Amino acid sequence: MAAATVAPTHVVHHDTSRAAVSTTALGVCILRAWESKKPEEHRLFHDPFAAIICGSDSMELPLMEEVGKNKDFWMDFIAVRTRWIDEQVTAPTTEQLVILGAGMDTRAYRLDGLKGTPVFEVDFPEVLSAKAKLLEGHQPQAKLTNVVANLSLNSWDADLRTAGMQPVPTMWLLEGLTGYLTEAELEALLTQLSKLADPSSRMTATFVGRDMKEKATSMHRYLVTGPDQISALLGKFGWHCKIHTIAEISRLYDRAEHLPRDYAYFLVSAWRAA
Ligand SMILES: C[S@@+](CC[C@H](N)C(=O)[O-])C[C@H]1O[C@@H](n2cnc3c(N)ncnc32)[C@H](O)[C@@H]1O
Repeated sequence: MAAATVAPTHVVHHDTSRAAVSTTALGVCILRAWESKKPEEHRLFHDPFAAIICGSDSMELPLMEEVGKNKDFWMDFIAVRTRWIDEQVTAPTTEQLVILGAGMDTRAYRLDGLKGTPVFEVDFPEVLSAKAKLLEGHQPQAKLTNVVANLSLNSWDADLRTAGMQPVPTMWLLEGLTGYLTEAELEALLTQLSKLADPSSRMTATFVGRDMKEKATSMHRYLVTGPDQISALLGKFGWHCKIHTIAEISRLYDRAEHLPRDYAYFLVSAWRAA
C-alpha cells in the first residue's frame, strides 16, 4: 500500500530563506546513495532507494562549496550517522516511529526491523510529495503515513494525532533538523513533542556544535556550545540523554579516518525522566 497523505492544514512557508533547507535533504540522500554503492563488506548500510530518489550516477552534492568539507568527510559523516540511527530506531522498544524533518529518509522502506511498525514522516508538503512520487511503485515495509506540516508552527501535533499517531512507546527522530530551527522554534517543538510523547518514548536527535559555525551553512540557526547545553535543553522538557560526538561513534564502525576527533557534531539518545 502506498503512503497515505494527510492534507496540509497549517502549512505556510513563513520564511522564504528556508526554502533551500530541503535541498540539504537531497544532499544527504546523495551521500547515502554513494555509500550504498560500496561493496557489501565495506558499507555501513544499504539504501537502494537513495539512488532512485537522486536519479542519476552523476550526482553533484548541493551546497558543497558553502559547507566547505571534502567528499570523504561527508561520506563517512553520513554513513556513521545513518548506521547509528538505523540501530536506534529498530530497537525492540520502538512501537511507533515519528520522523520530524524526514526529508528523503527511506527507513520505512528499507529497514526490515520496521516491518509493520507505524511510521509517521513529517516535513514540508513539497518534500513529502516529491519523495512519494519518486518511490511510487515501491512498498514501504513499515505502515507509513505522511504528515505535511511546518514544524516551526505549533499545529503539527494535532496533525499527527489526526493522522493516527497513538499514545504508545514511540521513537522520535530528529535527524539533521535541530540546526535549522531557531532556539524559540526548537523549544516550541520540544514542548509539543513532549506533550504528545508517551512516558516510555525515546528520542534520537542530532545537534550542530557552535564551533562548526564557520563550516555550517548560512541556513543553520540553533548551534550548541557543547553537550551541557543539549542536556540542559532536553532536561527542561523532561528528557534524560546520552550524548556522543560523531567522532566517537565513527570509531565503533571503523570510520574515524576522515572525522576530526574534536568535530562538534552530536548524536543524542534520550528518554523520558521517570
Ligand atoms: C538536512 S534535511 C534532513 C532530512 C532527513 N532527516 C535526513 O537526515 O536525511 C532537513 C529536513 O528538515 C526539513 N525541515 C526543516 N525545517 C522544517 C520545518 N520548519 N518544517 C518541516 N520540515 C522542516 C527539511 O525540509 C528537510 O527535509
